[in-house]
Amino acid sequence: MIKRWRVLPVAATFLFAPLAYGADRAGQGSLPYQSFETIESCADCHSEIVTQHARSLMAKSFTHEWDEIEYFELALPHALENQKVSGIKAGCNGCHSPLAYLAGDIPPKRPSAGTRANEGVSCDVCHSITGFVGDIPFNFNYVMNPGDVKQGTRPGMDSGHHEIAVNDFLASAEFCGICHNEKDPFGMWVKATHIEWKEGPYGAKGITCQDCHMPRTDGTLSDDGDPVEGVRRHTFHGVHFPEKLTGAVDVLLYPRTETVEVTDKIIVDATVMNAKAGHMIPSGSVEERVVWLHVEATDSDGKTWHIPVDRKGFDGEDWTVADPEAMAYQDIGDIRGLPNFVGLSRDGDVPAGDRIYRMPYLDPEGRMTIAQWNTASFGPDYRLPPLEGIGEVFTWQLPAGVSKGVLRIRASVYMTLVVSSVADYLKLPATEKEHTVMGSTEVTVLVR
Ligand code: HEC
Ligand code: HEC
Ligand code: HEC
Ligand code: HEC
Ligand code: HEC
Repeated sequence: MIKRWRVLPVAATFLFAPLAYGADRAGQGSLPYQSFETIESCADCHSEIVTQHARSLMAKSFTHEWDEIEYFELALPHALENQKVSGIKAGCNGCHSPLAYLAGDIPPKRPSAGTRANEGVSCDVCHSITGFVGDIPFNFNYVMNPGDVKQGTRPGMDSGHHEIAVNDFLASAEFCGICHNEKDPFGMWVKATHIEWKEGPYGAKGITCQDCHMPRTDGTLSDDGDPVEGVRRHTFHGVHFPEKLTGAVDVLLYPRTETVEVTDKIIVDATVMNAKAGHMIPSGSVEERVVWLHVEATDSDGKTWHIPVDRKGFDGEDWTVADPEAMAYQDIGDIRGLPNFVGLSRDGDVPAGDRIYRMPYLDPEGRMTIAQWNTASFGPDYRLPPLEGIGEVFTWQLPAGVSKGVLRIRASVYMTLVVSSVADYLKLPATEKEHTVMGSTEVTVLVR
């Protein structure tokens, strides 16, 4: 029922410390900016792919507002003040701005300065990766060989502009894991999307990240190229695209009886299942996403009541039930040197009593944090594993004043990108705290 995070054993490398890597690993300052071609230079011939990529978060991995705020206003000041996390000053950029990291332009200038750090995860970053160092892809342990040769997966292609090396590594999930697994300075797996995938049903069947995030459609690889089958689209749609979230979660409701008296109790079983994602929901930036189940009932007069979830009684369950009184994120005050900072609402605007599917990230003092680099332990892993149902029970005493007739019970699973209290405090764009529906359902019960 409660999934504990099964973590792969890994040699005790101290992450973010460059010396922990082998000599082949592309290190900080090893490749000047001009080693890489710009995205514009690829646009001359690959205009369609360039347009797709430009709309994705890959192109905005350094310039996106929330990324800029978290790096420049929390992570960087923390790295300069606290030796334990000093490695993130460079480390964040190993994935978010590989060009700046490799050029040794650390810390990079703010996006407004318009440097090449802004190119983010660019075409030439991915198409210069030939492999990774070690046994597990994580913490940008890429082997990087920029130059005339572009890595691809399709044999028999020719380009006058560049050489092509056919390298099946790009078709593997491990390729993505280089940046989608992350171990923080405390040795915690604060991102494990690839590990989750590998241990789950999609990994077992070999359905890759590319299959879901780079869907194939017929077309051409370059503007003047011959038509080919199944071109990999570079859409990389994830949580920032509501269409990717819609239907990602299946919600089913089963009232135990179909008819009740006005003075009765109603018991409704709910099953929530991750039906569409190849890894946990949420995955990746688990510390900041909020995914929750909200159930309410509307009587025949249109009066609506909220129904809180029944407790199961497992260790750490309090973290999974929304509580407007609960405070967290006190480490923001430590990082910013605010001695009287009491923290922020742990669950933001999630209604009291709703079930939250999360794995709490805990700072060295055991308080929930959105700073993944400051995570020293985890609370219980109560997320949605791929293709596994989680059961919930809702026991509800019908309130005085409920009308006879048809009672509609509705369940919805929502996601916000960032917990609303943090989004408000850091003045993030309103889109970061929008409620997006991932799945919903409705059943009826007759009240006599
Ligand atoms: C002058 C035109 C031109 C430019 C500029 C160009 N390419 Fe290409 N590229 C091609 C052609 C032609 C092909 C072969 C496919 C085809 O015929 O449609 C190709 C194929 C590829 C492939 C597929 C390899 C395979 O077989 O799987 C990759 C990857 C690629 N290019 C990456 C890039 C990147 C990255 C850039 C920018 C740094 C770039 N290209 C710039 C013309 C170009
Ligand atoms: C079976 C299809 C499928 C596969 C396989 C898959 N994903 Fe996803 N992925 C999704 C869907 C659907 C979502 C949106 C729902 C969600 O947030 O999980 C998503 C979301 C994401 C997110 C955003 C997660 C968050 O909560 O912020 C990332 C990052 C991601 N995928 C990367 C990957 C990587 C890397 C792999 C391979 C290791 C992969 N995905 C494999 C379907 C898939
Ligand atoms: C996050 C990494 C990543 C980025 C960024 C990226 N690509 Fe790719 N690209 C891939 C992968 C992975 C494949 C091969 C997937 C497969 O075959 O399963 C690929 C395939 C291609 C192909 C061949 C498609 C096919 O169906 O054979 C071309 C052409 C290409 N990329 C060009 C580009 C250009 C141009 C850009 C920049 C606008 C770019 N890529 C950005 C990862 C990336
Ligand atoms: C060089 C590092 C790197 C590699 C390699 C990489 N990614 Fe990412 N990816 C990132 C970063 C950084 C972000 C976060 C962008 C942001 O929001 O700042 C990201 C975000 C994403 C998202 C979330 C987008 C959203 O809308 O929320 C998806 C999906 C994704 N990557 C899929 C993939 C897949 C599939 C592959 C392999 C084909 C891959 N990535 C390879 C660095 C990488
Ligand atoms: C190992 C690669 C890696 C490292 C190192 C890394 N990130 Fe990320 N980061 C990612 C990926 C991949 C995502 C997208 C995950 C997702 O969407 O769930 C991401 C997402 C984010 C997001 C959320 C973006 C959004 O749009 O919601 C922020 C903010 C962020 N990272 C900041 C940082 C900071 C600050 C650091 C350094 C302390 C850092 N990252 C270190 C790979 C990395």
